[in-house]
Amino acid sequence: MAFPVQRMRRLRRNETIRRMVRETTVTVNDLIYPLFVIYGREKRLPVNSMPGVFQISCDILREELREIHSLGIPGVLLFGIPEHKDALATAAYDDKGVVQEATRIIKDSFPDLLVITDVCLCEYMDHGHCGIVDKDGEINNDATLELLAREALSHARAGADIVAPSDMMDGRIGYIRQVLDENGFAGTAIMSYAAKYASGFYGPFREAAESAPQFGDRRSYQMDPANGREALREVELDIAEGADIVMVKPALAYLDIITRVRERYDHPLAAYNVSGEYSMLKAAAANGWLDEERVMLEILTGIKRAGADIIITYSAKDAARILG
Ligand code: PBG
Repeated sequence: MAFPVQRMRRLRRNETIRRMVRETTVTVNDLIYPLFVIYGREKRLPVNSMPGVFQISCDILREELREIHSLGIPGVLLFGIPEHKDALATAAYDDKGVVQEATRIIKDSFPDLLVITDVCLCEYMDHGHCGIVDKDGEINNDATLELLAREALSHARAGADIVAPSDMMDGRIGYIRQVLDENGFAGTAIMSYAAKYASGFYGPFREAAESAPQFGDRRSYQMDPANGREALREVELDIAEGADIVMVKPALAYLDIITRVRERYDHPLAAYNVSGEYSMLKAAAANGWLDEERVMLEILTGIKRAGADIIITYSAKDAARILG
């Protein structure tokens, strides 16, 4: 042949060569598994829109933890479904609350399993918003900080290794850091949901966490999906306020954001492969439209390749079983 063909395919000829030049490897160390904990006895209630995901009561949590632990998954992200909801989210910062109880059980039975707690008020508010709603219907940012800090402190007191504020109020990282430090929890880390978008992909989660807003939506606090530069400002602020780990959420429609944050900042970066992303895969796989295992690993690899160090995913157990 007359013209010089550049032979890219030489390094794709067999699996051993491909393995040698592979740039991205997802390992179980990268994965965090979200858990929904509820009150009651021997409850393991399936979440319809998320096959394989359950709301689990504290008394039978140990079985679930044993599996997670034996798979080598380094940590869990806890969400609580309280018995009572009210206008001040009091169950969120009750030391006897369901997340606090689950945290104590985990730290008691599997001390080396990392407990990350989602710090937000939406599951605990009767109206389902992530902050205090004033009479005029507006979210009161600064009054909300006080409740978030109480919640984070209560989680830290129960033994949480990392608190993860997901509310998107302004100033919450700095405020929570200050309150933790003042109360002797300087060692408790903060994973900030720094760039969290107002996303339709959270739909199934709101069934799982029973946290759908009763009126309006979250667009006055979560980010506009159209904005990228704004995400960098959010991350910058959270880092300045003391975030130890920053997060981009959701993951798949925001891979560019993950990459831009990775390029600009050196903090550990988490990405949340959210409920809707999981449900899409499960639904397509159930119909025989996608090869579930293959696509799951492709998704996780893509998120890692984009620049995430940590992937929060409902697929963590399924992936760990394959990755070993
Ligand atoms: C709480 C919170 C949400 C998610 C994590 N924390 C829901 C929301 O903001 O509406 C979504 C997680 C998922 O979809 O998997 N604010």
